[in-house]
Amino acid sequence: MIGDDPALRSAYRLCRDRTRRQDPAEYALIQLVPVALRPACWALWAAANTIDDLADDRTASAGERAARVRRWIDALERELTTGTSPDPVRRALVDTAARWRLDLSGLHHAMTEVAVDAHGRRFADWSGWRAWGRGNLLPWFEQVRDLFDRAGVPVALRLDRQESYERFLDGMRLADILTDLSADLAQGDLLLPAEALDRCPGAEEDLTALRWSPAVAGLVAHLTDLGRQWVTQPSLTRGMHPGPATVLAAMADLLLAQLDAVDAAGPALLRARPRPALLTTARLLAPARARAALAWSLTPVPAPPARRPAPHLPAVHPRPLRRPAFRSPPPHPSGERPPRIPVERMPTHVAVIMDGNGRWAQRHGLPRHEGHRAGAAAVRDVVHGALEIGLRHLTLYAFSTENWKRDPEETGAILDLLRQETRAYPFEDLDVRMRWHGRADNLPQDLVDLLDMRERSTRDRTGLTVTTCVNYGGRDEIARTAAALARRARSGRLDPDLIGEQDFAEHLPRPDMPDVDLLWRTGNEQRTSNFLPWQAAYAELHFTPDHWPDVDRRDLWRAITEYTHRQRRHGAAGPAPHEPATAPREGA
Ligand code: FPP
Repeated sequence: MIGDDPALRSAYRLCRDRTRRQDPAEYALIQLVPVALRPACWALWAAANTIDDLADDRTASAGERAARVRRWIDALERELTTGTSPDPVRRALVDTAARWRLDLSGLHHAMTEVAVDAHGRRFADWSGWRAWGRGNLLPWFEQVRDLFDRAGVPVALRLDRQESYERFLDGMRLADILTDLSADLAQGDLLLPAEALDRCPGAEEDLTALRWSPAVAGLVAHLTDLGRQWVTQPSLTRGMHPGPATVLAAMADLLLAQLDAVDAAGPALLRARPRPALLTTARLLAPARARAALAWSLTPVPAPPARRPAPHLPAVHPRPLRRPAFRSPPPHPSGERPPRIPVERMPTHVAVIMDGNGRWAQRHGLPRHEGHRAGAAAVRDVVHGALEIGLRHLTLYAFSTENWKRDPEETGAILDLLRQETRAYPFEDLDVRMRWHGRADNLPQDLVDLLDMRERSTRDRTGLTVTTCVNYGGRDEIARTAAALARRARSGRLDPDLIGEQDFAEHLPRPDMPDVDLLWRTGNEQRTSNFLPWQAAYAELHFTPDHWPDVDRRDLWRAITEYTHRQRRHGAAGPAPHEPATAPREGA
């Protein structure tokens, strides 16, 4: 089926043997798919694990490990256009991509994130953990789905089941992390969110010291319980072709057995990877094999098509091969165009306190929630204006930790509006990357899932980043960051005497958010109200009298134009080094 090329046959054999040796459960699952598809599955599995191993190899420094991952990806990118590789895993993957016409560009982000993993990861809460885990796993599963599609077995997944599917993958990721706990801890990694660790005080410290304690036992029991809930998604396979449905059901059974093994391991969990007994897995797999054989006998999958010539091979990168052509934002109804701002004068990050919705509603004799609805329309226009003027980051204060003090009817209306705007997503055709920032814990789970989903679906966009702050409070963010630093210090991985500003910045829940250049508040109030106190420490302040619903993109352009006349010194005596000496000079 692979043809007569001995090097290619041996490349696929190597992928198969690596899968069988490193992950017997995964190997057994691949045995449930038709023979024609197995080599492609081995190649995908071996590729994902090869780059994980490169990132984990502690004989090298973190920088070197990250560089090795990037070199591996770069080589793959080149080889996808030449059609072959000297490396056996990539050789099999390149062949798989060509044979099944898979577009591997969807893997680019997941693979490059592994290079970031090499430097270690910390998660403040489940939301951040989920975003990381899903970003890492989903694209590989999407390739397998595409593979089935190409083979004529569409793995139809109803859109309303997407959330169960992603939860299922969360369960898989959690089971993996618990299984690999001893290996990760030996390398100084703990891939669990602080939110989970904090439930069992002392557990993180004990884990880091490889000490089994009641706190650790409580944490493991809690996590295995969560894992079981996530893995159990009975609606997931309803209506699906019986072949892939059998594979997914067997995967769920194996994960449940794996979680049982984690639970049963006790203190041994900190010394070695627990595995379910062979008899247990054999009992689970025997009926799955029978069901899979029957399912595939009803839908035979033909041998893969012939290899296509190299010049037509899909590339893993650059992404523009797949990136949709984005629309330009619609112009403002007045026809007004954005002012030209010299690039060196353009702020990178504008943050907005959208104040005055309630007063706007009152002035129009409307209930407060109508003010927020009108505010959402203003948001759309301002985002269009931000794109037109070429702004890189726009951050909007939509709901603060203090807003819970309002009437539940009003808070409910604001959260509903956020749901609607996130679901409808008016910026679909525009180059807008959506992110959100705030505490997930006391927000409705469906809203958190929607915000996370929108973040994932737009994460590869490179134009304007719009960050919506929901259930956000600046002091809360600072307290959480301090807690993250304290945890790291307690675990012995950070010396408290050496903590500096950079350490603090790196432990913020959104460490990659740039400093705010311009903080703009509407609604005739002159306060910053607990909004981004760390990031806006040196921001230029801009206060305007209009209520937010009366604002449009032209107000943003005016705010930016005015900003270009400010002289920013960041505490220095003269002009800041990056600013031209001819800049108009105003007070510091
Ligand atoms: C402050 O005005 C505004 C809010 C608390 C909510 C802001 C929310 C939106 C504009 C809704 C949509 C947002 C997005 C990102 C789609 P206020 O109610 O405090 O006004 P007041 O000071 O006049 O009472």
